[in-house]
Amino acid sequence: MSYQIAIDGPAGAGKSTIAKIVAKKKEYIYVDTGAMYRAMAIHMLRNNIDPEDEDAVSNEAKNADISFGYVEGSQHVYLNGEDVTAYLRTEETGNMASTVSKYAYVRSRLVAIQQDFASKNNVVMDGRDIGTVVLSDADVKVYLTASSAVRAKRRYDELIAKGESADIEKIEADIIDRDRQDMTREVSPLKKADDAVEIDSSYMTIEEVSEAILALCR
Ligand code: DC
Repeated sequence: MSYQIAIDGPAGAGKSTIAKIVAKKKEYIYVDTGAMYRAMAIHMLRNNIDPEDEDAVSNEAKNADISFGYVEGSQHVYLNGEDVTAYLRTEETGNMASTVSKYAYVRSRLVAIQQDFASKNNVVMDGRDIGTVVLSDADVKVYLTASSAVRAKRRYDELIAKGESADIEKIEADIIDRDRQDMTREVSPLKKADDAVEIDSSYMTIEEVSEAILALCR
């Protein structure tokens, strides 16, 4: 049996940073499921699909073959054979991903890929529905949160460090909007699994959070 660590939580709580550290320590594979929804979003953007039209999105999703692999230890995502990893992390793609991920057909396609991979590999998988749906029997489940103000500040600092300009109030408003969309959708909304351990990272360091998760594994 593979060992499965599930990390869910809202956008910007630090899931990927923490999941990568835990995966490295345990020598497990880090799986970023948001990247797959983002690849699906890119497909919809390229084909000018109205994201609010569920039939149109579901039909077009049939033409999106999404897969992932690892290049020097980091995850790459492929859309119909093309490596789209470099295009995943824009605001436009994130917002589109949040919208198209509410549809059952889109979710069922990507969940199947995630479950298949996790049945064959030891994983640290992060997303929104990992502990509740994808890996409902995971060995360790974590619900990682932080206040919207702290998450906005982290994102703001990241952008400033990259030399970009940023408006912290707009960032926080977008975060709150994305939380609402991810938490209120009908299919697999973001919520803490009953048996998940909640960690509020607002006033914790990255080391403290990863250590807390490694302690849960022990
Ligand atoms: O984690 P992220 O920001 O890359 O995710 C982008 C969007 O994809 C997120 O707003 C909701 C959706 N998502 C999801 O519905 N289920 C997942 N397991 C991961 C992401």
